[in-house]
This record gives sequence, structure tokens and C-alpha cells, in this order.
Amino acid sequence: MTNGANGTSGTTGTTGTTGTSGTTGTAGTSGGIGAHGAIPKARLGANGPEVGVQGLGCMGMSFAYGPSDAAESRATLERALELGVTLYDTAHAYGAGENEKFLSPFLKAHRDDVVIATKFGLAVHPDDPTRRIIRNDAPHIRESVEGSLRRLDVEAIDLYYMHRRDVDVPIEETVGVMAELVREGKVKHLGLSEVTAGELRAAHAVHPIAALQSEWSLFSRDIEATVVPAARDLDVALVAYSPLGRGFLTGSFARAEDLTADDFRRHQPRFTGDNAAANAALLDPIRQVAEAHGASLGQVALAWVHHRASVHDLPVVPIPGTRKPGRIEENAAATGLALTEADLAVLEPIAAEVAGDRYADMRFTSAGRE
Ligand SMILES: NC(=O)c1ccc[n+]([C@@H]2O[C@H](COP(=O)([O-])OP(=O)(O)OC[C@H]3O[C@@H](n4cnc5c(N)ncnc54)[C@H](OP(=O)(O)O)[C@@H]3O)[C@@H](O)[C@H]2O)c1
Repeated sequence: MTNGANGTSGTTGTTGTTGTSGTTGTAGTSGGIGAHGAIPKARLGANGPEVGVQGLGCMGMSFAYGPSDAAESRATLERALELGVTLYDTAHAYGAGENEKFLSPFLKAHRDDVVIATKFGLAVHPDDPTRRIIRNDAPHIRESVEGSLRRLDVEAIDLYYMHRRDVDVPIEETVGVMAELVREGKVKHLGLSEVTAGELRAAHAVHPIAALQSEWSLFSRDIEATVVPAARDLDVALVAYSPLGRGFLTGSFARAEDLTADDFRRHQPRFTGDNAAANAALLDPIRQVAEAHGASLGQVALAWVHHRASVHDLPVVPIPGTRKPGRIEENAAATGLALTEADLAVLEPIAAEVAGDRYADMRFTSAGRE
């Protein structure tokens, strides 16, 4: 694998030739995982926490992606931290609090080294696992934060996100309540997920937003038009969720039928019927780039997301989800994979060719409201 640039803008570090902007890398001259065995760092927002430039999505450990092995998930958390992964992403919605509870012992053991991010405002409908309930009103936020603090068993949440936008509540009102939580010491920094550029600007005017979490991958680039430029203007870091296209970009599954009956991805338009077959063919150029570098498909997908930092000049922190220690090593190593201009040209056309939306109901995404 070729080591080198992953360019996360704003760097003050020692990441060598490549510059991880907003980062203070420990990666040595070759970028990526360096002499100290840790990935580079990036800052979330102007005054937010410094985190490893790749975080860990913990959702699949308790929710959405079929059965998990708790011991293996715990080993993944520990291995991630050893590699310099410090941002751990969860939400109340991930198993109705189960994922937060699962993370609690890990947090207790490493409280000073881990930045915990959780979210409010989204719940799975009790009668239909494909339906969602979205609430951004003050009583709901207040009840949610107490629940998350209790389940995580921490004194304060490092980064608290609004998970989904409830259009019946003005965003200024929602962020106003979130800002009160900061003043009360319950929450340290604020984040938003799947908001439009306009919503981000309105929110940021009420209280600084450290991070915007949205889907961003070789398959999902809708945020690049307006959301990413707004984040850059406001000094908001981009936390990229599902950077592996929910695993599809690794080639680990090729269609909905490969997944267990309770797997959420069975309901996602990209992975069903003709769409799945058409999208599987789009992995060929990724495979070509991966082979040239002696890397895996997933590493190329992650290196591409890291590279967006230098393209858009803002900190980008992808949070790939995995429950397997070997995979966390593979994914973290992608911070050291430098894609060439030729590689980028090969990868550039993929997103426009993807068949099917990223969600069955796009109203709950930023793209669905723009
Ligand atoms: N804000 C939001 O609305 C939102 C929405 C979705 C997700 N998220 C957050 O973002 C995180 C990441 O997104 P995601 O989990 O949906 O998708 P993802 O990171 O794109 O992909 C995760 C999938 O890829 C597999 N995988 C990971 N590394 C792999 C590797 N090296 N080789 C082969 N397969 C690999 C995982 O399987 P194993 O687990 O079995 O390794 C899992 O099935 C979530 O955990 C969650 O915290 C947020």
C-alpha cells in the first residue's frame, strides 16, 4: 500500500508531506499510521475536541446490521483506541439505548482518552421497524439527554447531535435548547446530522456547531453541492457516516438477500433488485485502484473520503463501522493510503452512476429538503 496524503485541512502537525488540515498528526513523514502507531488527528469545529482523523461507528454492535458478538465488539473498541481512534459514535436510536449501554464500560475504562458522540431525535417506530419517529422539541431533548447520560454513565456528553430534523420545530429553537445543555454542563459540544446548508447556517448563528454528520462516500456525494461549502465557511467539521457505503463498497455483500432478515439494509433501495446488480458493477474501478496499491476496496473507499478534506479544505472525519478487530486495523491503515490524481479520476464518475436512493424515504436527509 502506498503511504501518503490524506489531507485533512488546517494542519499543525507532523503528518509530513501531505498535510492533514486542522490536524496535529503523529503520523511521521509518510502520513497515516506512523512511528507512534497512531493515526493523525483533526479538530472538530473551531473550539471542539481534537480526535483521531478516523472515528469508529458503533451502531452495528447493537443495531441494524444483524447479529453481533459482544466480546468481538469489545475487542474492536480496545484495538481502535490503540490505533489512535478516539471518536466513538452512537445514538439513542441504536437499539433504543442498547448501544449506549454497551459502550458504557469501555467509556469508564478510558474516559479521558475517548470522545463520545451520541444523538437525540430519532426512534424506530414500535410497530414497524422501517418507520422512524422524529422529534426535536424541548421536552424530548431534555428527556433524551438525561437518558443518554444515564445509559452512558458519564457526567457530560462530549458531542451531542440532533440526529434528524423535525421540520415542525424551528431549528433555532432546537439549537437553543441544545445550547442550554452546554451551559448546564450536560453536553460539551454540539453537532447536527443530515441538515441542509441553510439549516446549518441558522443553527450556527444560535450556537457554534462543532460537527456536521452526514453520509459521504464514493456512492453518496449529494452533500458536496451546498452542505460541505457551508460547513467549510462556518468552520464546522464534517463527520462522514457510512463511508463504506454500509459495507457494500468493501464487497462484503452484493445484494439484500445476502443479509439476515432483520438487517436494515434490506430496505435500502440501493441494495435491492436490479439496483444491487448495477451497483455491484460500479465496484470494478475501485477494485482496479485497490489492486494498484495492494490495498482493499474498503481502504480505497476510506482514503477517498479522507482525501475530500484537501479538496474542500475542511476537517473530514469518517466513522466507518465495524465489529471486528482485524477490520479496524485495515480501516485505520487507510489514513495512510495516498490516492494519485489518476486514481481520483478513475473514482470520480462512480457516484453519478449509482442506482437507487440512499434511503427509502429521502425526506429525512438534507438532500430531501433542499
Ligand atoms: N447520522 C446518521 O444518520 C447515521 C446513519 C448511519 C450510520 N451512522 C453512523 O455511522 C457509522 C458508520 O456507518 P455504517 O455502519 O452505516 O456504514 P459503513 O461504515 O459504511 O459500513 C459498515 C459495514 O461495513 C462492514 N465493514 C467495515 N469495515 C470493513 C472491512 N474492512 N471489510 C469488510 N467489511 C467491513 C461492517 O461490517 P462488520 O461490522 O461486520 O465489520 C458493516 O457492515 C455507524 O456505525 C453509525 O455510528 C450515522
